[in-house]
Amino acid sequence: MCGIVAYIGPKDATPFLLEGLARLEYRGYDSAGVAVAGRTGGIKLRKVKGRVADLAAAVPARFKGGTGIGHTRWATHGVPSDANAHPHLDNAERIAVVHNGIIENADELRAKLTADGAVFRSETDTEVLSHLIAAHATEGVELEDAVRAALGRVVGTYGIAVLDSEQPDRIVVARNGSPIVLGIGEKEMFAASDVSALVRYTRQVVHLEDGELATVRADGFRTFTADARTTHRQPSTVDWEIDSFDTGGYEHYLLKEIHEQPTSVERTLSGRLDERFSTAHLGGLNLDARELREIRRVKILGCGSAYYAGEMGAQLIEELARVPAHSEPASEFRYRNPVIEADTLYVAVSQSGETYDTLAAVQEIKRKGGRVLGVVNTVGSAIARECDGGIYLHAGPEVSVASTKAFTSTVVAFALLALHFGRIHDLSPADGRRIVSALQALPDQIREVLDQSEAIAELAAEYAGSAGMMFIGRVRGYPVAREGAQKLKEISYVHAEAYPASELKHGPLALISPELPTVALVPDDELLDKNLTTLGEIKARSGRVIAVAHKRPEDRLVDHCVLVPKSEPELDPLLLNIPLQLLAYHAAVALGRDVDKPRNLAKSVTVE
Ligand code: AGP
Repeated sequence: MCGIVAYIGPKDATPFLLEGLARLEYRGYDSAGVAVAGRTGGIKLRKVKGRVADLAAAVPARFKGGTGIGHTRWATHGVPSDANAHPHLDNAERIAVVHNGIIENADELRAKLTADGAVFRSETDTEVLSHLIAAHATEGVELEDAVRAALGRVVGTYGIAVLDSEQPDRIVVARNGSPIVLGIGEKEMFAASDVSALVRYTRQVVHLEDGELATVRADGFRTFTADARTTHRQPSTVDWEIDSFDTGGYEHYLLKEIHEQPTSVERTLSGRLDERFSTAHLGGLNLDARELREIRRVKILGCGSAYYAGEMGAQLIEELARVPAHSEPASEFRYRNPVIEADTLYVAVSQSGETYDTLAAVQEIKRKGGRVLGVVNTVGSAIARECDGGIYLHAGPEVSVASTKAFTSTVVAFALLALHFGRIHDLSPADGRRIVSALQALPDQIREVLDQSEAIAELAAEYAGSAGMMFIGRVRGYPVAREGAQKLKEISYVHAEAYPASELKHGPLALISPELPTVALVPDDELLDKNLTTLGEIKARSGRVIAVAHKRPEDRLVDHCVLVPKSEPELDPLLLNIPLQLLAYHAAVALGRDVDKPRNLAKSVTVE
């Protein structure tokens, strides 16, 4: 949610700030701004409602300065507007602040600062930080000490970057619940909320820990804690390729990421399958076989698509390891004072590794003595670091707001976990072999589905104008239906409902009409006959049916059918989901939507 960039060095900061913001725009895109410490003193500021391109057009040519900060925003406090865009200044226009996160005691601080004479120009919680830091930045006080003192009065989460026109040889950054990464260049330094803004300039990065601050100068940095103790941080090397952050010739990141799935699945599987013992090796679990055997239940937590991937994961674990498993939205779990049990394995799922609700759930479980594994894409992210062990997806960066390749890789990671778990319980070698072979076949099978993109685009164009769409699936198909409905509404804004096919006649059948087409998941498994019966019930009510199936049902039961290759029954959901991604993508394109940056959303939801 929101993106931060900062630069200090011999060059002009603005080109990096604008480029970095464009790369971070997927994190929030309702307004953007930059501030630089001008070469002749003072702070130059430009901020606009709209996209980074609007900001770039508004920045004058003579916007020069070697020290600068920038921000792209997803509104939490106050509407998207020029005034509410970051950076925010104090009244003397000496201090500029960009901020991700939420200042929970902003109202109280605002009242105190107003009583002391501060005049607020925005509705944001962030503006209290600029006034507060300015209040502590009295004669002779170093910027880092003023920032430390100000943050000592703040309750909430933040990643911030602070610029001081009177100390333009430094930027101070701080992290508490919202990521900040330093980038080390040649006689220049960078900072950002996400490495994607940095990889074009440097691969050497330092991830700040929660509660840590840094003073960043052109020739280096110093990290320290809120009580001014110096910390010693070694840089790490980012291994993501720069072209991971380009559209690579595709019209949208989303289409590129959908098409990357054969290779991202290969990467998730790489080095983890053991054909000899028909199992999977997962080095990062930090759980030995004896500890795993003592687990009686698995509770999976994630938000949105991560939660639905967790539902598929729970089914895989129950089916292959015969251990009860259940997925729950992390955003609900954390608020219901959950019972934490020693013999339950908790698994947190997150592409970004930053989702605040998921992170808070992990922290709550750990506070109560539970053991948590992470299934995470972003290496070194907050959730990954908070967990006791886990599985990295290695799906590569996912830029489009709608999750596709990370979703698929998450389910693959769960299949590996379920296989490993199953083989130390009573999954037979033959069944283990069956799953290993099916996992190995997945990349090519995904390619087969992707080859149908054009035919699915025609279908999407025909149905995009519908008043809404119903998605149905039975048992293994139900999480697929939920994810398919989520994808459609998220990027095309077409209303979509997901129901277990078995539940249709208990209420939602009343909705069925020619105006509400149904996307039905019809795998060739033990529930095929039941699913065909449901299709008959829909057709009898003049409903239109798009089946996603292994075998084309009789013509009287469907209007259209997308065929997908058959896997093992436990893994079928993975392949059934791919046409639904393409359907949502092409429907969004047909409707002229902003596919990669759908309205009201952002990629990483780092607020409650
Ligand atoms: C997915 O298409 C959505 N944008 C959203 O539901 C997302 O999956 C959710 O916010 C969780 O994100 P995470 O995986 O980064 O934690």
